[in-house]
Amino acid sequence: MHSKILIIDFGSQVTQLIARRVRDSGVFSEVYPYDVSDEFIRNYGASGVILSGGPNSVIDDETPRAPQAVFELGVPVLGICYGMQTMAAQLGGQVENGKVREFGYAEVRARGHTKLLQDIVDFTTTEGHGMLKVWMSHGDKVNVMPAGFKLMASTDNCPIAGMADEERQFYAVQFHPEVTHTVQGAALIGRFVHEICGCKSDWNMPDYINEAVAAIRAQVGSDDVILGLSGGVDSSVAAALIHRAIGDQLTCVFVDHGLLRLDEGKMVMEMFAENLGVKVIHVDATAQFMGHLAGVTDPEQKRKIIGREFVEVFQVESAKIKNAKWLAQGTIYPDVIESAGKGKKGHTIKSHHNVGGLPETLHLKLLEPLRELFKDEVRKLGVALGLPESMVYRHPFPGPGLGVRILGEVKKEFADLLRRADAIFIEELRNTKVEGTDQNWYQATSQAFAVFLPVKSVGVMGDGRTYEYVVALRAVQTQDFMTAHWAHLPHELLGKVSNRIINEVRGINRVVYDISGKPPATIEWE
Ligand code: XMP
Repeated sequence: MHSKILIIDFGSQVTQLIARRVRDSGVFSEVYPYDVSDEFIRNYGASGVILSGGPNSVIDDETPRAPQAVFELGVPVLGICYGMQTMAAQLGGQVENGKVREFGYAEVRARGHTKLLQDIVDFTTTEGHGMLKVWMSHGDKVNVMPAGFKLMASTDNCPIAGMADEERQFYAVQFHPEVTHTVQGAALIGRFVHEICGCKSDWNMPDYINEAVAAIRAQVGSDDVILGLSGGVDSSVAAALIHRAIGDQLTCVFVDHGLLRLDEGKMVMEMFAENLGVKVIHVDATAQFMGHLAGVTDPEQKRKIIGREFVEVFQVESAKIKNAKWLAQGTIYPDVIESAGKGKKGHTIKSHHNVGGLPETLHLKLLEPLRELFKDEVRKLGVALGLPESMVYRHPFPGPGLGVRILGEVKKEFADLLRRADAIFIEELRNTKVEGTDQNWYQATSQAFAVFLPVKSVGVMGDGRTYEYVVALRAVQTQDFMTAHWAHLPHELLGKVSNRIINEVRGINRVVYDISGKPPATIEWE
């Protein structure tokens, strides 16, 4: 049995990042809400407890408190932000309403030579004080430490920015070590879990798979599960994981709306049905989708139709799976945060882009085995489950697929041209190294694709005049897809892609490169 860290959640938007940092340091951890019982805390078997931040004020009535058992377990406790304030309040200290709210970057002076911060510094002042570059986000602050605590850190705005009772091994910081803006955050959390709590680095992906498999089995029992496989990373990894857990109790439905990338259907069927032995119902609904999209030019209207038809097809297919009680989705943690109401402790459920509306209409229970994982963890999990890296590290692809990359009316003829142009672009990105690195351009961009422009322009090929369509290439680099830069692809690469598309895809005689950033443009053209 591995050692584990219990994280008590007070509703911070970044609580899961704590779990993630702990897992990154090779230690198992789980997040539970603050209102679990004392009995739960005593039986859990934690080697250490971390109290998260949260949106409330401990000064207000009836705001969350940690179960008192946390402080009686005899294991180390680390309070972060609200977690520090409630620790102070529960152990006899005092918290005041800060006059100045403090958000963002701050420099914290380490004090008191505690085990938690010993030798962890970003820089030293001329007076010899160790300083940490941290991220703060708080209004209230501790103004009187509980008995037994000594000062561990301070800033100008927040004289008690950290406190420790080393005898009881209670530590608390006002700043957020779990976010990457706190430069030494990983070192601090690593110090807490390894040296203070004594946990070994014994947590890894194979263990995670075993736990997740056991949890899925316990959750669904002998029921059947259906999953809408889109070919994207999240639904694919969810399918592979659930299949590992329950085998033939899982049926995947793969709806081909005719707006997928080149050979996508074939690839999905090969990988899941043939290699992994997953039951996959492959529905070619191209004609149905194209029929409903005929004559429609408005982007939002197209999205609505594609979403609605998807639900329609999925419903018809899933009704054939008589024993299905569960609908599995590849919801990942960022989807959960995005949809969680501010200040709520629980997580609200968001229907996945691709299967919007399904849960309610199907009367199925939701199975979301990836909802605690971040994208890069999902990818690692996918690889550990035997999915090919080329698939797991693919760029994101929108639910409406090529439907939003064919401007205006969607026609099968346009989709066929676009698929081939897009495949050439992607192939060349994969085949071209970024100079001075060991990455190729596909890896060095966050999203890259071709867009079909339904305008004709004049060209000349051989001895003849041509009058054909235009394709635009789009490649962006971004962290979060909220803002993006256009990628400075080498001219030789762009030239080669253009030549190949015009020579190989009859019907396209002009290729342009999109050099707009987001904002003011968006990543997709529609
Ligand atoms: P934009 O175009 O808004 O795209 O800059 C940001 C990211 O979202 C993806 N995207 C979508 N994904 N359904 C989806 O599942 C959609 O309707 C949709 N529209 C845009 C886009 O590919 C990019 O990654």
